[in-house]
Amino acid sequence: MDNKYFYVTTPIYYVNDKPHIGHAYTTILADVLARYNRSLDVPTFFLTGTDEHGQKVQKAAEKRGIEPKQHCDDTVVAFQDLWKKLGITNDFFIRTTQKAHVSVVQDVLQKLYDSGDIYKRDYDGWYCVGDERFYMDKDLVDGKCPDCGREVTKLTESNYFFRMSKYQDWLIDYIQTHPDFIQPAFRANETLGFLRKPLEDLCISRPKSRLSWGIELPFDKDYVCYVWFDALLNYVSAVGYLRDEEKLAKWWPASIQLIGKDILTTHSVYWPTMLKAMDLPLPKTIFAHGWWLTGTAKMSKSLGNVVNPMEMVEKYGIDAFRYFLLSEMTPGQDASFTEDVFVTRYNSDLANDLGNFLSRVIKLTGRSCGGAVPAAGALQEEDLEFMAAAAEAVKAMPEALASMKIDRGLDAVLNIARAGNRYFEKTAPWKLAKEGNTERLNTVLNVAAEALFKAAVLLNPVMPEKTAELGRALGYSAEEFAACRIAALDGADHVTGRTIADIGALFPRVEIAPAEEEKAPKAEKKAKPAEKEAAPEGVKLVTIDEFFQTQLKTATVLQAEKIEGADKLLKLQIDIAGETRQLVAGIAKYYEPEMLIGRTIVVVANLQPAKIRGIESRGMLLAAKAGKELRLITVDGPIASGASVG
Ligand code: MSP
Repeated sequence: MDNKYFYVTTPIYYVNDKPHIGHAYTTILADVLARYNRSLDVPTFFLTGTDEHGQKVQKAAEKRGIEPKQHCDDTVVAFQDLWKKLGITNDFFIRTTQKAHVSVVQDVLQKLYDSGDIYKRDYDGWYCVGDERFYMDKDLVDGKCPDCGREVTKLTESNYFFRMSKYQDWLIDYIQTHPDFIQPAFRANETLGFLRKPLEDLCISRPKSRLSWGIELPFDKDYVCYVWFDALLNYVSAVGYLRDEEKLAKWWPASIQLIGKDILTTHSVYWPTMLKAMDLPLPKTIFAHGWWLTGTAKMSKSLGNVVNPMEMVEKYGIDAFRYFLLSEMTPGQDASFTEDVFVTRYNSDLANDLGNFLSRVIKLTGRSCGGAVPAAGALQEEDLEFMAAAAEAVKAMPEALASMKIDRGLDAVLNIARAGNRYFEKTAPWKLAKEGNTERLNTVLNVAAEALFKAAVLLNPVMPEKTAELGRALGYSAEEFAACRIAALDGADHVTGRTIADIGALFPRVEIAPAEEEKAPKAEKKAKPAEKEAAPEGVKLVTIDEFFQTQLKTATVLQAEKIEGADKLLKLQIDIAGETRQLVAGIAKYYEPEMLIGRTIVVVANLQPAKIRGIESRGMLLAAKAGKELRLITVDGPIASGASVG
């Protein structure tokens, strides 16, 4: 990322529906990037907003029996309120119905029409009266509407087209020579795959007779602009394109444009070719993150498994929700949301690791040092070792941000708390207090409080409210803490002499709901016979040598696909230390192929090759199974493929 200016965008969301966890994730991710950059003293502009034109919105308004603009005005509030609630610090909220945006879109249309990049032609297609949509031959399913399955009628329509085909070769070359442009890299490959077929020109108009809710073409009053063409332009209209050259020069090209993988093509093909035609540089990075799934299933309204962010926030608090989303999802891959996983992570990372460390530091300082952080004396080996863990996190977090590995950065920061708890076990400051070893006690508490302060500043962009509380515990007023910068964390002493405050439990443990507690003792009771069964008669015990005859190795999943006619099986291409292998696994009921790509799994590497349904399989992946649940065995941090497991 360029350090001079930082411009981050989210997709602009349709106002035909309520915001859900997917929208919340992208927006929180952008917010965290913006807050981090501000904390690194990089001038930052953060844009989000709503996509208010087009068929979907027109339909939603019709359903409510009101004007589309009224519908937008009503529903945009849900997004704006949620962002406020979630502590989103966007610098501007764009609505595509705003006059300023509409007039820029019209100017772009005119500019491209004048330059010949937009032209008019007749084209034949199939019209579905029910859906009021136009389809091409290739879209139809068995000659019928791909959406509703009804009959379609042949129609010739005149429309305006953007000469996208003209930029195909240029775009292929650009993607190949700019590895940072589409991230993660496998999404660049996906785009290049799409570009292997001839690129067609993009229809950018809709006749008003079919759709009236859109931006009127400046050169033909009978048409409105295609919603995606209008929507994509928000990223430049919001920063002064064709209106404020200075502003545009400051912020454009964007540093990073965040999108979900569902809208990759529009952003990696339509958008760059539009920019090229407009003679604007391309954003430095378009980053496509994965999907939040419910368990292993896609979230969808019809399945009734859509997670409502408001509900989670009411239950567990804003900061815990923000922390969970960012630590649980590896950007680029899919992640699974279940309340169980949420509570487990909350209790272990926040209540136990961070919460415990904080309360130990505060309680001991209050009890033994008169309520102010004492100055450190001579440092010992164990102090330096622990200080190194904190220094490591200060280095790791900005690196993690620059490479979009925020989950790893957070893990490095949480390591401060984990290492801090170990440091306390080792140095036993409560014993030092009892023994009256004040000098050593002061050093330990000073080193611990300084590390805690660093953790608070590093976590601030993710958990702004809770870390401000943490700052208060360490004697910082809200204003003072807000002025602390990651850029200034190195070296200096930030805590000596500060009056600490006992703020109680920062993250009170979440207890399991009574209904689940009832189940727990039963599970315990059941465990006993299982213990007895651990080595029942007749079970052959193996020696360590026998065990190691089975070679277990880590492998990275390169590709995954369903197998036709075998609904339980997936075919995977995996990498084991540079060797690509194919294996067939019976996990299709539990994992979507896309969820597996890029993940590190554990495989039996020396299994005899076999054919499953006629497909060669060389190896077997490991998974845990209980009843209807199946979970892959994976590793808990980055490690090379081909590493031995055992
Ligand atoms: N209006 C278009 C985008 C135009 S951008 C110029 C659109 N809107 S949307 O309301 O459907 O939002 C799509 C975005 O919401 C995704 O790209 C992603 O950022 C987010 N998510 C929606 N569902 C999601 C999940 N289940 N998981 C993660 N994010 C997903 O498309």
